[in-house]
Amino acid sequence: MNFNKVAVIGGAGTMGIGIVQIVAQAGIEVLLFETKLEVGEKGKARLDKTLQKLVEKGKLSADKKQNILDKVVLCDKYQELADVDLVIEAVYENIQLKKDIFKQLDEIVKSETILASNTSALSVTEIASATKRPEKVIGLHFFNPVPVMKLVELVMALTTSEETYQASVDFCKQIGKESIRAKDTTGFLVNYLQIPLLNGAVAAYEAGLASAEDIDKACVLGMNHPIGPLALLDLIGLDTALDVFNVMYEGTGEDRFWPRTLHKRLVQAGHLGRKTGQGFYKY
Ligand SMILES: NC(=O)c1ccc[n+]([C@@H]2O[C@H](COP(=O)([O-])OP(=O)(O)OC[C@H]3O[C@@H](n4cnc5c(N)ncnc54)[C@H](O)[C@@H]3O)[C@@H](O)[C@H]2O)c1
Repeated sequence: MNFNKVAVIGGAGTMGIGIVQIVAQAGIEVLLFETKLEVGEKGKARLDKTLQKLVEKGKLSADKKQNILDKVVLCDKYQELADVDLVIEAVYENIQLKKDIFKQLDEIVKSETILASNTSALSVTEIASATKRPEKVIGLHFFNPVPVMKLVELVMALTTSEETYQASVDFCKQIGKESIRAKDTTGFLVNYLQIPLLNGAVAAYEAGLASAEDIDKACVLGMNHPIGPLALLDLIGLDTALDVFNVMYEGTGEDRFWPRTLHKRLVQAGHLGRKTGQGFYKY
């Protein structure tokens, strides 16, 4: 299957804008949806800056940059999404919000359209239950930063059809990503493997076992990770990460997902990582 038109709900967010970028880079028209048009405009301006940096580094031509931006259309009404082939939702990690959005989308988009969620840890099956097309709902779990990370985790709801799965595999190829197939269990595969390490790093820092720099250095130089766990948490956003940790803890009952007090305090202080200029590190 070939995808010609894709919508990204929450397209100006951390993940949304990255997804918008790679879809547009693949030459696909992409509707950047935000409920407030000015939020979408700010997102597109950020994308412009990101691409301009690539132009200055000689990694992208000015023409190609313009082609990418031309593929991005801002919108704030669901009616504008009626004829898209695929919708990727990337709003806050909140089950009720996601279900409300899927219910509305289901009533508006054409019957063949695949509805995907970028949720990190919520049940895709529950999100799908809000629609009358649960066989066409799937998790397309991208990783941060989207333009850099090669993987998309395809999360099969209990109701997702093989046809939807195959079409999603095709979509990943079209945008130059690799995919893996995961069951709709809490945290799917990647977070189930990764979050205990991130949480362990917070616990080690909280217990004063080492500095943030040394904890990260241990993972980068001792385990060959491309980025340390505390720096990664700052990149993800400590608020988003806390939501995910809570879902993992509630969903599995396993102590290794239990969020540490320090993590909660940082969020309460508004120290959310890179996006606020302070988290485990200052930016
Ligand atoms: N941040 C990460 O590293 C990461 C990685 C993988 C998956 N995710 C998942 O991606 C999703 C988005 O996370 P994020 O970090 O990009 O969040 P974010 O807060 O950066 O962005 C969310 C965006 O959604 C928009 N939004 C909120 N309500 C909306 C609505 N009703 N309609 C349209 N837009 C709306 C916001 O304006 C914002 O632009 C979450 O489900 C998260 O779990 C995040």
